[in-house]
Amino acid sequence: MRVLALESSCDESAAAVLDADAGLLAHELFSQVQLHRVYGGVVPELASRDHVQRLLPLVNSALARARTAPSDLHGVAYTAGPGLIGALLTGASLARSLAYAWGIPAIGVHHLEGHLLAPLLEKDAPPFPHVALLVSGGHTLLIEVAAIGRYRVLGASRDDAAGEAFDKTAKLLGLPYPGGPQLAQLAVQGAAGAFTFPRPMLDRAGLEFSFSGLKTAVLHAVRGRVLTDTLRADVARGVEEAIVATLTAKALRALEFTGLNVLVVSGGVSANRALRERLVAALEEHGGRVYFPRLEFCTDNAAMIAVAGLKRLQAGQHDGLAIQARAQWPLESLPPVAA
Ligand code: KG4
Ligand code: ZN
Repeated sequence: MRVLALESSCDESAAAVLDADAGLLAHELFSQVQLHRVYGGVVPELASRDHVQRLLPLVNSALARARTAPSDLHGVAYTAGPGLIGALLTGASLARSLAYAWGIPAIGVHHLEGHLLAPLLEKDAPPFPHVALLVSGGHTLLIEVAAIGRYRVLGASRDDAAGEAFDKTAKLLGLPYPGGPQLAQLAVQGAAGAFTFPRPMLDRAGLEFSFSGLKTAVLHAVRGRVLTDTLRADVARGVEEAIVATLTAKALRALEFTGLNVLVVSGGVSANRALRERLVAALEEHGGRVYFPRLEFCTDNAAMIAVAGLKRLQAGQHDGLAIQARAQWPLESLPPVAA
């Protein structure tokens, strides 16, 4: 079985071809980061217009690279939500139209299920059940994953997502959007312990997060001071340390709560080197194991949408003729997939 997949939920346009036996045959991506940078964040209407121009050429090059003709395909998967509604509609209508023209099913995929299943693209894939820590620009979630499609949310952020906390504090340090990766780079040069920022909600029981206080703490730390390179690096180090320590502690708490010893970390922030190193060490100490997607599949991509789409198609699930796009879509409402 072979699927084409499209991703267009935010500011990356992507296409991929995945074969159940041969694995990932191609994945293409265009990031709109330069387009949105001057505005300091994603402008939804600009994102939609750019997806319209980019998606079809990406589909053509993914099919060519995968040496795949439409007649070799068994389905077209696409991100149906959650995300920016206009951006979602561009991918959904293209995928639905191609599937109709080629006489094959279309599969609307939940973007977060894509992130959760991204590590299945690796040779050393995580076993089920496990606990997932999903950390992206829009979400910070701890999820008990019993099997594909069987998700129980254990904890979430009450306010900003972890990626948002990285991006907003990076902005305060004068770094361009999206600041997360650049703040991480800067942090390497910072002195450990120069700044100790609050570790939100660590002192409270439970698995919820809150990252919005970090912005205020950073604002207080730099107020009235000249933003030298040293100061910026030290603050960056403190911010990264606070986020990494909080995510690690809560992930361990979720493992204890569920009695599981396998952790899967995905979403854009799972590309963060400090977080990866801390979690590897913590899980070694805990007597368990942590799994990550490869770096390029941490942030948005179509390969992860292909995995989720293929698993659902193999289980006999696909859409009708309607074009599906949902800005909001609870993960726990997804149907299970028989193993
Ligand atoms: O999963 P993703 O590509 O998009 C969403 O679905 O949100 O995640 C993007 C987020 C951004 O906030 C970005 O700053 C953050 O992931 N991010 C990082 C790193 N790479 C990406 N944050 C910290 N360190 C990184 N290396
Ligand atoms: Zn994402």
